[in-house]
Amino acid sequence: MVMDVMAAAARIEEAGGRVIHMEVGQPAAPAPATAIAAAKAALALGRIGYTEALGVPSLRARIARHYAESYGLALEPARIAVTTGSSAGFMLAFLALFEPGDRVAVAEPGYPPYRHILSALGCEPVAIEISAGTRWALTVDALLAEHRKKPLAGVIVASPANPTGTMVPGEALGELFRACEQAGIKYISDEIYHGLDYAFAAATAAKLSDNLVVINSFSKYFCMTGWRIGWMVLPEALVRTVERLQQNLAISVPTLSQVAAEAAFDGRAEMETVKHGYEENRKILVEGLPPAGLDKFMPVDGAFYLYADVSRFCGDSFDFARRMLEETHVAATPGVDFDPKRGKNFVRFCYAGSAAEMHEAVARIGEWLGKSKRSSAT
Ligand SMILES: Cc1ncc(COP(=O)(O)O)c(C=O)c1O
Repeated sequence: MVMDVMAAAARIEEAGGRVIHMEVGQPAAPAPATAIAAAKAALALGRIGYTEALGVPSLRARIARHYAESYGLALEPARIAVTTGSSAGFMLAFLALFEPGDRVAVAEPGYPPYRHILSALGCEPVAIEISAGTRWALTVDALLAEHRKKPLAGVIVASPANPTGTMVPGEALGELFRACEQAGIKYISDEIYHGLDYAFAAATAAKLSDNLVVINSFSKYFCMTGWRIGWMVLPEALVRTVERLQQNLAISVPTLSQVAAEAAFDGRAEMETVKHGYEENRKILVEGLPPAGLDKFMPVDGAFYLYADVSRFCGDSFDFARRMLEETHVAATPGVDFDPKRGKNFVRFCYAGSAAEMHEAVARIGEWLGKSKRSSAT
């Protein structure tokens, strides 16, 4: 459905309208200058060949060092696998961990490709509804209740999450992992939005145990969506399996992107400035949307999403998003993409644009909702 919104936004732009794009979950900023410079220098050398299937050793070592610097965790570079974005990390993890027919739990609302990739591989995604009662987090009780119905082979946990932008504190993640460990449920932690945490510091699951899979990416914090590069932290016993899968499925990850990714770590100061921009945008929305009429949304803890309840205005978020786009030129994503059942009540706004755009979006939405209120009263 987000594609339909994008197509409608493109039509408005072709006709000369100016759309504020809050529908797609990607940063507006480019990759760090250090990454771009390293890629240019590598290109100037000429030959771009294959690399080791698990990634260039210096990049794997640099990622391991990132865990020491950011989380105080010593990790063996041998446990790092470089992947073509976290998207390829999911495919590799699911192939390495699960068999066709396996049941794997995912939170609903959640990132749709989890369930789509699982289904494509013959696994059964098991949606567990999360709600305000648990601060939009998967809980031990809900997970074990599902496991008792029919055993689960695995679970995917994301914090900060998409589409909600909510985060789970480290202690709760620890409880969830320990329950999984006892029940024999394999634990996959999607940490793609790490670095973009505002409410409290995101905790890496890699600190809980060596026996789980962490998936991360350069797409979001490092603004490198189109470079298609990410990584996994693997249990030692899974490294060889993932290496063989990657050798056969992809040979290796694009070399130029690996070079750029390694240099991206030297561009953190630039990325922190980008992050502060998101923080400012978050403040503009959190303070501006309630007086504009949208006063019900999930805790806006991290990532760059605000998931708003629009049920007060409309029972069909697709129609809400369509009308908002046509009448205010603000594009957002209907929640049905993330939650086939309750998503009709929600719309996701991505606040990775500029502060000026956020102010304008709030003003346009306020005027629009005010007008609809006035016309429904008459
Ligand atoms: C929660 C989550 N995980 C994974 C991805 C995939 O990102 P990439 O393949 O660019 O690393 C996304 C992209 O939006 C996402 O929102």
